[in-house]
Amino acid sequence: MQAESDTQRGHGAPGIGPRDASRYDRLFANRAAAVKSSAMRDLMALSEQPEIISLAGGFPDTESFPIDIYAEVVAAVQTGFRASSLQYGPTEGLWELREKIVEVMAHEGAFTRPDDVLITTGGQQAIDLSVRTFVDPGDVVLAEGPTYPGAVPCFTTYEAEVEHVPMDEDGLRIDLLEERLDTLDRRGVRPKLLYTIPNFHNPAGVTMSLERRERLVRIAHERELLVVEDNPYGQIRFEGENLPSLWELDDGEGWVIYLSTFSKILAPGVRVGWVAAPPPVLRKMNLGKQAADLCSSTFTQRFIVEYMRRFDWREHVARLNDVYRNRRDTMLRALDEEMPAEVEWSHPKGGLFLWATLPEPLDTTELLAEATRDERVAFVPGRGAFLDGQGGRSMRLNFSGASEPLIAEGIARLGRSVTRQLELARQLFGDQ
Ligand SMILES: Cc1ncc(COP(=O)(O)O)c(C=O)c1O
Repeated sequence: MQAESDTQRGHGAPGIGPRDASRYDRLFANRAAAVKSSAMRDLMALSEQPEIISLAGGFPDTESFPIDIYAEVVAAVQTGFRASSLQYGPTEGLWELREKIVEVMAHEGAFTRPDDVLITTGGQQAIDLSVRTFVDPGDVVLAEGPTYPGAVPCFTTYEAEVEHVPMDEDGLRIDLLEERLDTLDRRGVRPKLLYTIPNFHNPAGVTMSLERRERLVRIAHERELLVVEDNPYGQIRFEGENLPSLWELDDGEGWVIYLSTFSKILAPGVRVGWVAAPPPVLRKMNLGKQAADLCSSTFTQRFIVEYMRRFDWREHVARLNDVYRNRRDTMLRALDEEMPAEVEWSHPKGGLFLWATLPEPLDTTELLAEATRDERVAFVPGRGAFLDGQGGRSMRLNFSGASEPLIAEGIARLGRSVTRQLELARQLFGDQ
């Protein structure tokens, strides 16, 4: 009761809002002043409004996790590991879980050892630790354009100079990457790392072709370019065959750092991801993690181990893929039916997102304001996936988090919004 009345009375500084920052301006570190929010996080509050259909988040379908399995796993943790699951654990994570991660990676053909794995608090921390370990203020980081909006606060926190390399339907344009590396070389600049999402890119929805993967790893070896391969979606595949990871193609040469997470194959609520990296890199990341949070949740790590011991995680992933394949198809069908002919979008073979681009002079940041107000539908505007102002005509649409009827209704609403904006633009500017 005491706690409740404290809450009601309210503590803190109610007169000071989050935007009332000027009094701290002289105190904030450069990295705090420079940090840019992730566009998708900004949209979380909006998306929680029940009348809004959100195609913005990257929410996996946690309803598909069977209730009886959940209960059995929690009971196993409770009876077998009560004290240890409530205890601190090693920074690198539980050994048994690292063994399971070796199994998960092997399922995609990527071989590693438990010793080469560091458990992180979600895939997000794996990105943070990668950037923290290598990037000083002003260092150049290469990333696809668009890139994962959630990586934006990591890049800006460590004051990286991000240079985007364009993509097409076969993923990162390796020819343009080479040109960029040559240009940087002439300026005497060595990029610290390339951050890439080869499988079912978030947000672009495309997958890097085998030929480009091979070429990228060759370049990494020849030029000693460190490649951070972020692979949360490799197993969320609806059609076609697995392609080898960059980690696998690197074949132990040590120029690829591999990141992944249980968020998309199990549940984001467990907040467990991982890094596989060469030992000297892993050691530095371990120290970074000691500073950040000592260790990831022992409770949820144990939950995953007990789950994987008792059940076939591949079956769960297959079940999820069936659900998402249908949702993707529903979204693609609805886009065909509802969008004006000038709108284009990617056709992902897996993952959770597609990327749609509107004709000139439409702007998706402006569209979002209208679409949420008048049609109660939300998406991530494309600018959130670039650090250089590009992406104004594009948007990320998620097909995993809403039911098929809601996806169809959401796209119908979005189609109305786009059509209205397009008509307005035609009235103002004539046919472009
Ligand atoms: C490309 C990419 N990397 C990392 C993450 C973060 O993963 P986690 O939710 O495990 O922190 C996401 C989540 O959407 C992602 O799409």
